[in-house]
Amino acid sequence: VNEQFLAEITAALAAIVEQGSYKSPPTLVSPQSAAVRLVDGAEVLVFCSNDYLGLASDADVVAAGIDGLRRYGAGTASVRFVCGTFIPHVELEAELANLQATEAALTYSSCWSANLAALTTVVDDSTTVLSDALNHASLIDGIRQSRAGRKVVYPHSDMAALAELLSDCSRTPGRILIVTDGVFSMEGDLAPLADLLELAERFDAVVLMDDSHGTGVLGREGRGTAEHFGVLGEVDIVTGTLGKALGGAAGGFVAARRPVVDLLFQSSRPQIFSNPIPPSVACSAQQAIRTLRARPELLRRLRDNVKVFRDGLAERGLDSLPGESAIIPVVLYDEKLAERLSHRLLEEGILVTAFRYPVVPTGEARIRVQITARHTRDDLHRTLDTIARCAKEVQAR
Ligand SMILES: Cc1ncc(COP(=O)(O)O)c(C=O)c1O
Repeated sequence: VNEQFLAEITAALAAIVEQGSYKSPPTLVSPQSAAVRLVDGAEVLVFCSNDYLGLASDADVVAAGIDGLRRYGAGTASVRFVCGTFIPHVELEAELANLQATEAALTYSSCWSANLAALTTVVDDSTTVLSDALNHASLIDGIRQSRAGRKVVYPHSDMAALAELLSDCSRTPGRILIVTDGVFSMEGDLAPLADLLELAERFDAVVLMDDSHGTGVLGREGRGTAEHFGVLGEVDIVTGTLGKALGGAAGGFVAARRPVVDLLFQSSRPQIFSNPIPPSVACSAQQAIRTLRARPELLRRLRDNVKVFRDGLAERGLDSLPGESAIIPVVLYDEKLAERLSHRLLEEGILVTAFRYPVVPTGEARIRVQITARHTRDDLHRTLDTIARCAKEVQAR
């Protein structure tokens, strides 16, 4: 063992501890849900999961996964182009394409991989990429790894700045790709998608939207940010995750017109060189989509819960960022206060994570509350009261 190497790694860890950003999450011994049991026996309410529709522990979704495991085994033991593709992947992809009102979809082992695949495949050295300043890390890394001729970050959701950049880029030949989240994960706000698509059309640009937090949450039927804005099927490339509203397991997808998806299957490296999701996950995700369609009351409950929580924060004089998604950041501004509040909430039996620099800008530290359809009114009110009480407490210290 190289001791010098280990000493350097230990020093890197010490620096993370010194910054106060060493992560040590609690260990769960029950399924993800509105309340979970920890290894020390404590029961805590979860207000930071992406299990927006409560399907991670839904009986039908779990049963579909078990059935898939029995029928198709533990996994594919190969990448798809080598050993063949499994019927649950094909069926899930048809459902995902349908959900996004487009022609085709392709799954990957994560949305991280899906974003990397899409960005490194459709971007060449003649492409200019215009990327929102608050895009998710997987989009940022995908753009970094692409061979884009030019990469420009535009101010968050600033359509005037984007128009200026587009006008500038359109003078030179080459593809223009606009990259945005549908719902921004740290803010919970939405990209102004209808305006963005208008600009894209005017300047002949292509749009890639990561709708990981919008899929199964926004729009009349939960089809995502595009449905919310009445532009379903109009985004060139939509990516998303299976790890949030759609069953909460793992996996990601790209949905687009057929030639785009064909090219991704033929040449994207995370598809060619990496195993797909296990068939059992394809089965449970498929069931999650069926449940989303069959039980509209889940979406209604999620929205009612979001409204109750937002109104409750305002009534208690707590600062939250506006938005229509199920992500509600409660801003404490001070980094230590946000950390302390998160610790105090866990002591009170409520799990909510604090985010501080570099995940959010300096001076904008926050706890990020995420609401699910599984939360009861009691859960919501208890959490609102506890946040209000503990926020006062940590501010007074
Ligand atoms: C906007 C966004 N994109 C992509 C991802 C990555 O998804 P996955 O866990 O499927 O890799 C996340 C997850 O945090 C996300 O919030």
